[in-house]
Amino acid sequence: MKKDYEEQIQKLLARMTVEEKIGQLQQCGPSLVGAFDVSFEELLNMMFDGRITQEEFNRLMGTAQQDFHEEDLRAGKIGSYNGIGDSATANRLQKIAVEETRLGIPLLFGYDVIHGFRTVTPIPLAESCAWEPELWERTGRVAAEEATAAGIHMTFAPMVDVAKDARWGRVSEGAGEDVLLNGLYGAAKVRGFQGDDLSRENAMAACLKHFAAYGAVEAGQDYNRVDMSMQRLWEEYMPAYKACVDAGARAVMPAFNDINGVPCTVNSWLMRDVLRERWGFDGLVISDSNAIAECVNHGIAEDKKDAAKQAILAGMDMDMSSNSYISCLKELVESGEVPEQILDEAAADVLRIKFELGLFDDPYQTDEERESHAMLKEESRALAREAAVKSIVLLKNENKVLPLKADAKIGLFGSLASDKEQMTGAWAIGAKPEDCVSILEACRMRGIPFQYSENLTDAEKIAADSDVLVAAIGEMKEESGEAASRADITLSPEHMALIEGLLATGKPVVAVLFNGRPLAIPKLAQKVPAIVEAWHLGVEAGNAVLDVLYGDVNPSGKLTVTFPAAAGQCPMYYAHINTGRPGGKSKFTSKYLDAPVEPLYPFGYGLSYTAYSYGDLEVKKEDEALLVSVSVTNTGDRDGQETAQCYVQDRAAKRVRPVRQLKAFEKVSLKAGETKTVSFRIPFSELCYYDWDMKEVPCEGFLKVYVGGDCQAALTGEICL
Ligand code: BGC
Repeated sequence: MKKDYEEQIQKLLARMTVEEKIGQLQQCGPSLVGAFDVSFEELLNMMFDGRITQEEFNRLMGTAQQDFHEEDLRAGKIGSYNGIGDSATANRLQKIAVEETRLGIPLLFGYDVIHGFRTVTPIPLAESCAWEPELWERTGRVAAEEATAAGIHMTFAPMVDVAKDARWGRVSEGAGEDVLLNGLYGAAKVRGFQGDDLSRENAMAACLKHFAAYGAVEAGQDYNRVDMSMQRLWEEYMPAYKACVDAGARAVMPAFNDINGVPCTVNSWLMRDVLRERWGFDGLVISDSNAIAECVNHGIAEDKKDAAKQAILAGMDMDMSSNSYISCLKELVESGEVPEQILDEAAADVLRIKFELGLFDDPYQTDEERESHAMLKEESRALAREAAVKSIVLLKNENKVLPLKADAKIGLFGSLASDKEQMTGAWAIGAKPEDCVSILEACRMRGIPFQYSENLTDAEKIAADSDVLVAAIGEMKEESGEAASRADITLSPEHMALIEGLLATGKPVVAVLFNGRPLAIPKLAQKVPAIVEAWHLGVEAGNAVLDVLYGDVNPSGKLTVTFPAAAGQCPMYYAHINTGRPGGKSKFTSKYLDAPVEPLYPFGYGLSYTAYSYGDLEVKKEDEALLVSVSVTNTGDRDGQETAQCYVQDRAAKRVRPVRQLKAFEKVSLKAGETKTVSFRIPFSELCYYDWDMKEVPCEGFLKVYVGGDCQAALTGEICL
């Protein structure tokens, strides 16, 4: 239940000076001083792009002298910190805020808790392949339990940027290419992070990001422009953000990119008209890192002062890291260029979230004792393993190479099979490499007969002693995430050479892929009999991979992104439109000369050790909704879980519509031989779209319905609405 703090907020505002109000809008991170001269942000970047390892980063952070800008804090010039993830530091700074500033307003600590804190769970893209909102919520809850114990009040998550371009590195941070899935994923995370009472010590405010359409950056190049029709924006991108606002997310981060020429950071249409007025959002809006100052680079502001003015007028409450507000707002308010009322509104938004989080009642919500007990609990690890297993997608399994027999001797290859740190993926801020289980370690723990080599040295000898060869290949964690766009999304020559070398031994090869984005792997798909898409799975990666390889668990993950056959097909996504000349065999159709029309692996796809068939499709309608039912049968000899998916296509609308759009899905457990009926009820309101004049119009006339185990669904029905 959301409480109303408006009276307290107004009373406090009345006592605050202009400087103190501006101070509340300032978020900064610690700067590092001493032996080296790099900012905290730069050091973080160095870790993310692989110039230093996570261990080195942790060591530097632990030993370097850090400048927390305490003088500014005492003077009431800081309202929030980013990048502090331990209770001792958080409480020490909080004490200064509470006891040594004139008004004693507590600090708000934000950090990027993207997929778990210490118990690192699969990257969001991986976890989305579980198609299980309830799981997404539970992992969000564990993340919040741990992160709040480390002093964090707000996470910069969930990211619900619909991402249709595999070249974009941040595909890894969201739930893939579909807007419905992103909305459901985001809403589940919001519920998990925040719980049902934000004032509880283990509740963490969710800051949804990046508002809006950051996933549509041109050519998949990070930070690039976004230029799209309003119809597309509203149909394919906005609903995911709205779902998070509706789920009660208390903060929003506008995106780095511009939309149709106006950077989101200074976009009053986005922040005021859409977010606040249309969607009724009354929480905190915080800029992305340094984004306000970067409006000068965008060529939309003359200088930092102009950028600060435009941002606050457009509705940006808090300035992350750019120091634009703290250095320019006072002058802007004094000159009347920014009305004090606007400043008051922004400060009120900061105070509101602090009240809601219970920080005025208890500014110290954790301590070292709580912190030491909260991390990596047995049940949290178990959940991380469950999530990791459910995230794995079996892409290929020729000749039933998998599951392996219990006594199979394995030849294990590739550095990714032993590198614990690599298991976490991008943005794992609380991770400790020693917490992660690699495949190698998991083999040891299980007592599996195996031999290991990072490369082809001894490959023949190892192969001669082994029944099957398992190669861990893919991407290093630095190759996805922020500022990690790739023009070539194939496997590295080293990884392909490893595969070729192993195939040459004549033993069956299983490729286990660790990666943060879809890869273009047509050669691998052609040559290797079994491919397991493991993504970056977190602390339980090795155990989860073996659970699947040995069939302890029947794989059930389904892709939430299309795997193209070549990077040149990007952006490639299932919900495309048809054009007047849909790609086909004849020359004058929409396609490339040197790449297939079809993807390598379609959206929604994923194999299992059993098989499923679909039948008895019924499509009916009632007053307000479409009713679809189908029977799903497990035709194999193993129990399993199948995600039945329902897509629609409006065949003749006022505007061209996607060839398929996911409208509903259900994950069902089926015993070997068992049949269940799955029913979907899709309200007509969810079939609406926007016409040329941006009027929402109902779907009328013939609607095609497709149901099956992926977007190329087996069964087709039709109904006239
Ligand atoms: C990223 C955000 C992140 C922020 C704070 C930025 O570079 O774009 O997603 O939340 O840094 O760390």
